[in-house]
Amino acid sequence: MSWVYRKLIRPVLFTNDAEVIHGRTIHKLAWLSRHERLCRAANIFLGAPELPVELFGLRFPNPVGLAAGMDKNAEAVPAWAALGFGFSELGGVTWHAQPGNPRPRIFRAIPEQAIVNRMGFNNEGAEELAGKLTKWRSLKLWPQHPVGINLGKSKITTLGEAAEDYRRSFCVLRDLADFFVVNVSSPNTPNLLQLQDKSALDEILAALQANNQPGKPILVKVAPDLTFEALDEILELVGPRNIAGLVATNTTIARPPTADPRVARAYSETGGLSGRPLRARSTEVIRHLHRQTKGRLPIIGVGGVFNAEDAWEKITAGAALVQVYTGMVYEGPGLAKTIVQGLRARLSSQGFGRLSQAVGCQAN
Ligand SMILES: Cc1cc2nc3c(=O)[nH]c(=O)nc-3n(C[C@H](O)[C@H](O)[C@H](O)COP(=O)(O)O)c2cc1C
Repeated sequence: MSWVYRKLIRPVLFTNDAEVIHGRTIHKLAWLSRHERLCRAANIFLGAPELPVELFGLRFPNPVGLAAGMDKNAEAVPAWAALGFGFSELGGVTWHAQPGNPRPRIFRAIPEQAIVNRMGFNNEGAEELAGKLTKWRSLKLWPQHPVGINLGKSKITTLGEAAEDYRRSFCVLRDLADFFVVNVSSPNTPNLLQLQDKSALDEILAALQANNQPGKPILVKVAPDLTFEALDEILELVGPRNIAGLVATNTTIARPPTADPRVARAYSETGGLSGRPLRARSTEVIRHLHRQTKGRLPIIGVGGVFNAEDAWEKITAGAALVQVYTGMVYEGPGLAKTIVQGLRARLSSQGFGRLSQAVGCQAN
């Protein structure tokens, strides 16, 4: 599948604007999602073997998840399980519906297998998302894997009002998903990154936990550009605010040097960089977080995962689960299956019975 995608399908897709292709793909997956039998058929070809993980009181059929941003408006919720993912993170969603930044706002750096994006949380708003999730549930098409929601801040909301903006979204969505991710690390909403400051983040988490009677796991997604000291400050909130885990990492505002003019053009765009060039830094952040927490805090590793080796690197550095976004764009819809198969092979060759035994085994 991945050879066919890379050699035949991807070159055609890449002749078009990235967001147009993304829209068409989601449209097709939304159609697939409404047809249970087709989902089952897709799963026969693309479904991943079992590699179960127990975390946050949830059972993940395998550790490879869909990263936030791919399905911002929950248009294809059943499709992600059909494509073999062990969990999915929908959104980012904000309290207010908003159009995001002007287009174009996604740029491919093909020779580096990277993407620069400045979407700016384009989404239909939390109430609309709640309606979509309710619909998938009532149609009995809800996937057999944990579903998370990525919460962002509306652009029109000031930093001072941020906690209330997150709280409102959380309250309407609270009963509709299995876990929540507080996203304070997108570079594409003005000043959002400042909410990673300990006191600002503390206020947001306090507002959510005060309304979290069901005890849903609440995670925090961090930027790869934070210093280790800044990450350590966030870790100080884990106990007091009952943070269930961290998602490491979001896209980076850094740009590696490049001599390739096509890459330089994409890199010159404002926005967050994802894909291959992010891999090493995101793994470094995971390793640091794992060491600092002595492996006690679950970490979802994301950034430049394109194959089983990349996923293994993140898991052995300390990630209990991994996610992919840009890898799917470059490797195609068979990616989750390929990664899970590769992880299973690595586990048995190393003599591990469960994935949890590999988590952080090379963190030091
Ligand atoms: C087009 C695009 C949109 C994204 N939107 C979001 C988002 O809404 N919320 C979020 O937390 N991360 C978002 N991300 C970041 C991804 O979830 C992920 O953290 C990042 O891309 C690194 O993983 P990757 O290298 O596998 O793409 C987005 C990424 C891309 C490329």
